[in-house]
Amino acid sequence: IEFAYATQETPRGIADAFIVGKKFIGKDNVCLMLGDNIFYGHGLPAQLQKASEVTEGAIIFAYAVKDPERYGVVEFDKNNVAIGIEEKPLAPRSKYAVPGIYFYDNQVVEIAENLKPSGRGELEITDVNNVYIEKKQCKVEIIGRGTAWLDAGTHEALLQASNFVQAIQERQGILIASPEEVAYRMGYIDFGQLQELAGKLSSSPYGQYLLNIPETI
Ligand code: G1P
Repeated sequence: IEFAYATQETPRGIADAFIVGKKFIGKDNVCLMLGDNIFYGHGLPAQLQKASEVTEGAIIFAYAVKDPERYGVVEFDKNNVAIGIEEKPLAPRSKYAVPGIYFYDNQVVEIAENLKPSGRGELEITDVNNVYIEKKQCKVEIIGRGTAWLDAGTHEALLQASNFVQAIQERQGILIASPEEVAYRMGYIDFGQLQELAGKLSSSPYGQYLLNIPETI
């Protein structure tokens, strides 16, 4: 895999990612994930892999929370067609927050380029989503209560997320996100390659964890 990075020099909002990252996106579809959002749940990888196959429009997610006013809040009809999203509304129209993972077709670059900054001076991802909603090209998928959606955007939230990850990992004896393990389980690398990567790290608990992954999974 090859990774490339571009830096947003000033905090111009989430939707600025499509402008900053324009040359990486090229003619492709895009997934945007916020760095302070953490997801963990059985069945979630399959749901995301399906969403990543989007060829037209946008796929966003909805997750029931007790404090929707802290987020973008989506209202949708009984067929899961989005009616509208409001950014941090004082009186939320639903309990469904929009988590920070979004899938878009290539129109998103042009949509972002035509946005005006919001009251807080940012190019809002909610405004991008509302353009797709107006075009009737925005599908909402509910992330169920069996999946944890955690925030790590404040010190308190980061600590809570860390405690959650620690508790699960300690209980199950498996790591929530090891890139080498994921690559092996997804078939991107074979067992020999996994062992080779693990060998280089064998003096650390992380390397030992990798070395203990059985060939048959
Ligand atoms: C951003 C988005 C908001 C979304 C949230 C998810 O909020 O603007 O719509 O629900 O991320 O974490 P912000 O982090 O800018 O407050």
